[in-house]
Amino acid sequence: MSNPSTDHDSIAALPVIEMAMSFYQSRVLMSALELDVFGALADGPLARPALEERVGLHSRVSEDFLDALVALGLLARGESGYANSELADRFLVKGRDTYVGGFAEMGGASLYPLWMKLTDLLRTGEPQIPPGGNFFQGLYQRPEAARKFMDAMDTFNDEIAAKLSAAADWSGFERLVDVGGARGDLSVRLVERHPGLSAVCFDLPQIEPLFKERVADSGVEDRVTLHGGDFVTDELPPADVYVFGHILHGRDLDQRQGLVNRAYAGLRPGGCLFVFDRMIDDARNERHLSLLGSLGMALVSKIGSEYTPGTCRSWLDAAGFETVSVEPLGATDTLVVARKPA
Ligand SMILES: C[S@@+](CC[C@H](N)C(=O)[O-])C[C@H]1O[C@@H](n2cnc3c(N)ncnc32)[C@H](O)[C@@H]1O
Repeated sequence: MSNPSTDHDSIAALPVIEMAMSFYQSRVLMSALELDVFGALADGPLARPALEERVGLHSRVSEDFLDALVALGLLARGESGYANSELADRFLVKGRDTYVGGFAEMGGASLYPLWMKLTDLLRTGEPQIPPGGNFFQGLYQRPEAARKFMDAMDTFNDEIAAKLSAAADWSGFERLVDVGGARGDLSVRLVERHPGLSAVCFDLPQIEPLFKERVADSGVEDRVTLHGGDFVTDELPPADVYVFGHILHGRDLDQRQGLVNRAYAGLRPGGCLFVFDRMIDDARNERHLSLLGSLGMALVSKIGSEYTPGTCRSWLDAAGFETVSVEPLGATDTLVVARKPA
């Protein structure tokens, strides 16, 4: 006979309960950013009534909401009221260079409603955006959502620029093409690091207003240009370095191989291709964020999915590249560096 006290062991079940409710946390973080709670506390603590007034919080729910943020480690509560925790002060105050809330803002604006349709995706295999809809074409019709998406994309570009710079000898590189380079943020950061380098940001033409906004007055605007086009069908402009950041995961297998082949053709001998994505571990059983992210890709695209470094190497080998290195990039990504033989 089964023993009820072990069958219904709530302590042992806690990981399951927490997993089931983890959307509470995501949603509370998204709302805190929508209300700009951390911005309101950037200059110091505020008593609850003052904070309610500042961010527009109703008194019926403010105590539970703010105390939940305390329990989550994002606020601290003391004699002077509520204050940002060290973590929130570092990463969740909008406008600071270290701000990473773009991911949660993008989640709130674009992804959270889509994930409610996960079961429909799992039953049908169909993306859950409007029929015939293209995620990016739809996104660029909503400038505020597009800006949030870009903020999220750009969050770790300083770290990425440093890592890419350390992963190869850039001394002979004069021309970089960032394929799917978004509003040009990574191009700007790489050009800033390498005085002899100029960059072409190759992205959809609709990116132009956001590109202009980012690149104008960057101090390197004369060395960063936009090439508006479609990287699936258009030639890649010739280069010494190509960057494929978070683009292969959005394409089907033939298009991935096709892009890698075209990079090989467009590179000068000795040139480098940098590929990074939120790659799955080769054994496909550890990197749960990548595996979940792969489902996220399927929600927005008929063809998108994450992939493993091993699969990436097979595309590079088939094109003729030498793989130089495979290494972690930041907290969630993997960087594969490939070189066209000299
Ligand atoms: C996921 S974002 C990655 C942005 C950036 N490379 C990064 O790693 O943060 C993909 C980018 O590719 C662009 N893109 C998508 N499809 C494209 C296409 N067919 N041709 C050109 N750009 C495209 C999007 O506009 C977007 O900026």
